[in-house]
Amino acid sequence: MDILKGIKGAPDWLPPDARTFNHVETAFLEAARLGGYERIRTPVFEPTEVFARGVGESTDVVQKEMYTFDDKGGRSITLRPEGTAGVIRAALEAGVPRSGSLPVKWAYAGEFFRYERPQAGRQRQFNQVGIEALGATDPVLDAEVVLLGWEALLRTGLRDLTLRMNTLGDRVDRPAYHERLNAYLDRFADDLPPDVADRRHLNPMRAFDSKAPGVPEIMAGAPLLSDHVSSEAKEFHEEVCRLLEAEGVPLTHDPQLVRGLDYYTRTTFEYQALGLGAQNAVGGGGRYDGLAEDLGWPEPFPGVGWALGIDRTVLALGDQVAPPPRAEVFVVAVDPSLESVAFALVAELRRAGIPADQSFGGRRMKAQLKLADRSGARLAVMLGPDEVARDVVTVRDLATGEQREVARAEVVAAVASG
Ligand code: HAM
Repeated sequence: MDILKGIKGAPDWLPPDARTFNHVETAFLEAARLGGYERIRTPVFEPTEVFARGVGESTDVVQKEMYTFDDKGGRSITLRPEGTAGVIRAALEAGVPRSGSLPVKWAYAGEFFRYERPQAGRQRQFNQVGIEALGATDPVLDAEVVLLGWEALLRTGLRDLTLRMNTLGDRVDRPAYHERLNAYLDRFADDLPPDVADRRHLNPMRAFDSKAPGVPEIMAGAPLLSDHVSSEAKEFHEEVCRLLEAEGVPLTHDPQLVRGLDYYTRTTFEYQALGLGAQNAVGGGGRYDGLAEDLGWPEPFPGVGWALGIDRTVLALGDQVAPPPRAEVFVVAVDPSLESVAFALVAELRRAGIPADQSFGGRRMKAQLKLADRSGARLAVMLGPDEVARDVVTVRDLATGEQREVARAEVVAAVASG
């Protein structure tokens, strides 16, 4: 019988890479926590309409990439391809817009699903950490969000990052611009690939995303939305950029940055890691002041946020960071019969907050020391019959080989002080 395999594009994260994964996820969540963004959890599946209406019918995500199925009750269900639409759905359902303390600031982490062609940095199941600030329109809030994302990425140890920014103006700015862009695209009607041609009447801005042969060249001469936004939206954007530049964030203006989701208004941004190749966006986000209304809320309820991709960040880090070792102290039973004595010492170290481990299965001392080395532990605490009789242990520095004897009652204190 063949060994069963997992699904293509849905990777397993196992050690040692899983250690880097955890390091990245923790760094992202820590940045969010420092910003006052409280961790929430929403379901991994939603009614399909949440994404169809939230993310937008003209997007690749909705047109081609959703894992959609009918459940046994005949409802159309979709595995979340992104987090924002579901988070806003949850906020509206809980009546958050009517709460007195806005903006509400939320963070989330978890698995997301897109039926894309798997390649390096592009998977069918991937992981994001995201934040959303709901209920305020203020350039200071946008600057906070963008800066927290930047610092979250730096916190992982990643360098060689760039930040691209654009403004998409307000929805009222769109119809006139769409008309101009479509008029421009009319001139190239015969050269447009079918998916661009089909979608341009839903949203011609999607053409900026197309990498189909010839399209980027056509779009290089296209009219830009940033030249058609209101002066209010323009000033808002300039203030966001000014605040970020004052914090030393090296941002680049990219007037062609439209991003792959339809809900964006005003601020849009993307963090890119140099050296990642085609899939170099490690995170992105923006403001989405019309999304709540798309999901049925009767009045405007603005928001701004980002999502950072854990998988791509791990890829970008390569071996740039050494994640923390699995154990700090490895307790070695010099005589295998002392494994149960080691067990009590390991438990005591762990209770004192020191990551500790031991070997199992009655291995010889040499084999145990090898395991101690592989665990990444700094110290081995050795227990032999002679030591047990005298109520002492031998503490060995695994890097230098230096040894000293310590009273059994003093082990935790001795290990904690180095
Ligand atoms: P997004 O740009 O679609 O934005 O995804 C954010 C990040 O998730 C990407 O930059 C990338 O690192 C990662 N990612 C996306 N798709 C894949 C994939 N197939 N494989 C591996 N990684 C992937 C959003 O999802 C928005 N909800 C962000 C947002 C929050 N906007 C406002 N608030």
